[in-house]
Amino acid sequence: MKVLVTGGMGYIGSHTCIQMLAAGIEPIIVDNLCNSKLAVLDRIEALTKVRPAFYQGDIRDEAFLNQVFSEHEIQSVIHFAGLKAVGESVAKPLEYYDNNVNGSLVLMRAMRNAGVKSIVFSSSATVYGDPSSVPITEDSPVGETTNPYGRSKFMVESCLSDFYAAEQDWSITLLRYFNPVGAHPSGTLGEDPQGPPNNLMPFIAQVAVGRRDTLSVFGDDYPTPDGTGVRDYIHVMDLADGHVAALHKVAQQSGLHTFNLGTGNGTSVIQMIDAFVQASGQQIPYQICPRRPGDIAECWASTDKAEQQLGWKATRDVKQMAADTWHWQSNNPQGY
Ligand code: NAD
Ligand code: WQD
Repeated sequence: MKVLVTGGMGYIGSHTCIQMLAAGIEPIIVDNLCNSKLAVLDRIEALTKVRPAFYQGDIRDEAFLNQVFSEHEIQSVIHFAGLKAVGESVAKPLEYYDNNVNGSLVLMRAMRNAGVKSIVFSSSATVYGDPSSVPITEDSPVGETTNPYGRSKFMVESCLSDFYAAEQDWSITLLRYFNPVGAHPSGTLGEDPQGPPNNLMPFIAQVAVGRRDTLSVFGDDYPTPDGTGVRDYIHVMDLADGHVAALHKVAQQSGLHTFNLGTGNGTSVIQMIDAFVQASGQQIPYQICPRRPGDIAECWASTDKAEQQLGWKATRDVKQMAADTWHWQSNNPQGY
């Protein structure tokens, strides 16, 4: 099976390509490299002995996408490409809506031109906003998002759902990721944020490796056991396996399929720091700071639906997430 992977050079896309190749699925990568490096392709090749077809270009360029579709018998698309920094989306809403919403619409048009009717979309737990209860099921309310990034994900979900209502021979899968962390166990592929990391795990890793002095812990007065924010961190290799499961189980069946991809477990900021100290043997100096605007106290996934319908369940724990992140960061202190 050949699968077009938009954003396949990025953090989650690159790990997913590895797991696809291991499962005998051929990725065809499209990426404009706005947030990734060509070196990723070399690393994928070193790990798998396969150099996937790679096209450098933008998903908003329909003629470019038509050309890629014309060169391969593509059965499905996994759509990772997009911008993902919450704070930046507040400062640059036009860029975020253009990349994430318009980019997805152009991609859908190119798919329709090519007669490819199966898409797996990278959505986010951010569509649930501040949940009224946990664990969050796929039926929990969506749409009360607090920033342009989150709204762009909700808009794409809405567009895809409207599209499915009109064209029911399509297979549309919405995967709502919780908090992806970790790295390939080889230590050769991982997350490589440009500039100061926005997310907790890469920030901790850069403090541990000496690139940054201190971690700011955003709030210790949440109604959680230790007062710091609680999230459902999921190892990127588990997430990658979740995509392979979606390709096998639902991407060839018409329908609008929605799944949470999380572990079902909550971990606080302090617990994650402790796990990283254990895994790395490094100190992680931190200071308690005010809450970050827009943050919620806690969220974690109900994993029942993915387990039942995809036959997929995350298996790697927080210890493994910290160990693999450290392996990657200590081997690649400056990233790729
Ligand atoms: P990433 O930035 O590492 O990967 C995205 C890739 O898309 C990059 O390689 C980038 O160069 C490429 N890209 C961006 N705009 C493009 C365009 N217009 N045309 C072609 N390529 C383009 O991000 P990631 O962490 O791997 O996230 C992948 C997807 O998962 C994104 O859609 C993101 O919103 C979503 N997601 C991520 C997280 C997370 O915490 N990492 C959580 C939930 C959802
Ligand atoms: C986790 C916890 C912070 C950084 C974001 C997006 C979400 C999704 C995943 C894409 C929170 C705390 C963080 C730091 C800290 N992305 N923290 N110091 O906010 O749950 O989710 O990434 O879809 O849409 O919003 O993840 O890693 O930023 O924060 O104390 O330097 O760590 O307050 O409690 P978040 P995160």
